Amino acid sequence: MADTRVTHPPPDGDPLWQQDFPISRYEELNNSRRQFLKFLGLTSLAFFTGTLATALKAVFESRRTTTLQPMRIAAVADVPEGSSLNFHYPDESYPAVLIHLPGNQYVAYESRCTHLLCPVLYQHDKARIFCPCHEGVFDPASGKNLAGPPPRPLNGIKVEVRDDAVYAVGRAE
Ligand code: FES
Repeated sequence: MADTRVTHPPPDGDPLWQQDFPISRYEELNNSRRQFLKFLGLTSLAFFTGTLATALKAVFESRRTTTLQPMRIAAVADVPEGSSLNFHYPDESYPAVLIHLPGNQYVAYESRCTHLLCPVLYQHDKARIFCPCHEGVFDPASGKNLAGPPPRPLNGIKVEVRDDAVYAVGRAE
């Protein structure tokens, strides 16, 4: 009867697995290095593509901003002094608020807080724009962040009065 037991290492010197997969240590290291470089290359390409897409989106957005069409928000009579009116500009994705300040002055801002995008409210009696989420406070005349966590002013919208109506005519710089 033949002896079927496997001896380690087999009699010719190489372990059994190395006889089945005859790859030398040098080739194995070389292969790992190649795979690592390939991984690095693909990762860099992915980052580059992401950065390029972000840059192109920013350029597209800025072009869109400069070509905004004027949009009628409301009749002057519908926004008495000291009141505010919610609207969207330039499209439904951008909630905004129009404010009729004392002194017959109209201002408008995106109504998303610059902290964590909660909707802000104009409070005429307190002469402020308030974010109830974390008590952020903005100046209604300039949109400047005055108190709380908001890191920057509200995004402004240019408004004009034409033919007894208030129009949004672009984003403020
Ligand atoms: S989201 Fe407005 S203060 Fe935090």
